[in-house]
Amino acid sequence: MLKLPGLIDPHVHVREPGQTHKENWDTVTQSALAGGVTMLLAMPNTKPPIFDNSTLGMALSAAKSKARCDYAQFIGAGPDNAEAVASIASRSAGLKMYLDSTFGELRLDDMSLWMPHFANFPKDLPIVLHSESRTMAAGILFAAIYDRPVHIAHISLKEEVLLIKAAKERGIKVTCEVCPHHLFLTQDPTGFGNLLGLTPGRKEVRPRLATQKDVDALWENLDVIDCFATDHAPHTLAEKDSENPPPGFPGVETLLPLLLTAVDLRRLTLNDLIQKSVLNPRKIFNLPEQPETWVEVDENAEYEIKASDLHSRCGWSPFEGWKVKGRVTRVVLRGREAFKDGKILVEQGYGKNVRQ
Ligand code: DOR
Ligand code: ZN
Repeated sequence: MLKLPGLIDPHVHVREPGQTHKENWDTVTQSALAGGVTMLLAMPNTKPPIFDNSTLGMALSAAKSKARCDYAQFIGAGPDNAEAVASIASRSAGLKMYLDSTFGELRLDDMSLWMPHFANFPKDLPIVLHSESRTMAAGILFAAIYDRPVHIAHISLKEEVLLIKAAKERGIKVTCEVCPHHLFLTQDPTGFGNLLGLTPGRKEVRPRLATQKDVDALWENLDVIDCFATDHAPHTLAEKDSENPPPGFPGVETLLPLLLTAVDLRRLTLNDLIQKSVLNPRKIFNLPEQPETWVEVDENAEYEIKASDLHSRCGWSPFEGWKVKGRVTRVVLRGREAFKDGKILVEQGYGKNVRQ
């Protein structure tokens, strides 16, 4: 039996308020616990988006009554809410800025709309950027100009990891995360993890799956990457197989088995796993330690990932049928047995808002 600290997933789409047919605070936190994740940071692109005091209140009250693991909620940057979000920053996980197109309404194109956020948001919390490729370079320039921390969400490209490396070497306050799907899946039709069996809609995700060259560069530069984050983005199969498939993969429950399998294959050390899934997210997002909290793993258990075993409401996984090694057998959260042998044992509402 292997004992790990509870994992932190800093990038989760909970879908509540507004799209609870995809997921809600109950189902997503069950999925988290079953995957060894004891704390998650929720993204603000809900319906309505979380962008001021009243919408933050909506998300937090749903979370308070339903969450089974600990959490904090991001607020979203809009065209005219820089002062409003700065004033409620201490109750948030941080500020999320959508600078490239993806799911939801929050998106800021004009750089003059970025400026008041960079000027006003407290510097003890990072601004998290959805910024790809050259937009990411612009985001790093903003971090340098305003001398404040930014965290780049879900990097996927070789050029991104190389630029972040160079920026860190110059002392710019930039950190970043990578998702399992950008480490294990590629767009190449012949490569390992090519998703050949999936319909086109099920392959849609932002940032898109990249080439083998990009994936190799992420693995080669793992020391530049601060965190693992799932970007757990549940959409139903009916939506994924529709004419207009929304981008996103569920992932919070498959993160740890995939990473443990990489450890088994010597692509990653256990120390890297703990650093990037617990210690670095805690430091970057200024999160409290969870006392009496741990995850027990049977490192030798080999099994296939099956969506029917997962707790997310969305009912599918891009990793369906993947053989993994390492099963979460028991999770203790703040002194209580929260998960054991496939069963969730804490009730809705046990989860704590770590910003309270
Ligand atoms: O694929 C994605 N889905 N990327 C994002 O940035 C958003 C997410 C979602 O909310 O569905
Ligand atoms: Zn996301």
